[in-house]
Amino acid sequence: MIRRRRMVRNYDPDRPVPAETVAKLLEYATHAPSAGFSQGWEFLLLDTPADVERFWAVTTPEDQLNSGWMQGMSRAPVIVVPLSHRDAYLDRYAQPDKGWTDRDEARWPVPYWHIDTGMASLLVLLGAVDEGLSACFFGITPEFMGQFKQEFGVPEAYTPIGAMTIGYRAPDTKSPSLKRGRRESPSVTHRGNWGNRPGS
Ligand SMILES: Cc1cc2nc3c(=O)[nH]c(=O)nc-3n(C[C@H](O)[C@H](O)[C@H](O)COP(=O)(O)O)c2cc1C
Repeated sequence: MIRRRRMVRNYDPDRPVPAETVAKLLEYATHAPSAGFSQGWEFLLLDTPADVERFWAVTTPEDQLNSGWMQGMSRAPVIVVPLSHRDAYLDRYAQPDKGWTDRDEARWPVPYWHIDTGMASLLVLLGAVDEGLSACFFGITPEFMGQFKQEFGVPEAYTPIGAMTIGYRAPDTKSPSLKRGRRESPSVTHRGNWGNRPGS
């Protein structure tokens, strides 16, 4: 699954994803690890043509409406928007076993709410591969965030970390970014000290 996973940006519009399969993917997401088992994630499921259309209507920049990317992506029958919930972490860590009652964000080495929601999203992406589906994680442009949240009634405290299209794959063009090449494990691993590589 790990080696087969890749972002797919074109889908078969005539092949809906069974509701049970989508439910399975969302269930996989709940098995992600989370700091303090806070589980401060939520998922907005858009699985009707009308809801998928509403998503694209409020998140697509005018100059991208007719792009190839848009044409392929908008054929996906399902979109899942993962949202992180910072307050769930601040509340959880204010509990007696953690004791961070000041709820000071400076205590957090990095925002674990985004990390955990990302990990949950990866389980959806890998689960999709396991189910014979394809998916693509992509960003929602900041300038459209407000109208996206308004359109779908998302409360202020929740942050969409991106969105995932899910569907059956149609022929697609790989991202030009892949030309950069994959960084091989030894070139990203430091052994014992930053200056040492594996095998040294
Ligand atoms: C946080 C994140 C944001 C991304 N945003 C986009 C995006 O906005 N549009 C897009 O087409 N792909 C997006 N991607 C997909 C990457 O382009 C893709 O993962 C990368 O090129 C490697 O390709 P692969 O996942 O198919 O192996 C995103 C991936 C991640 C993890």
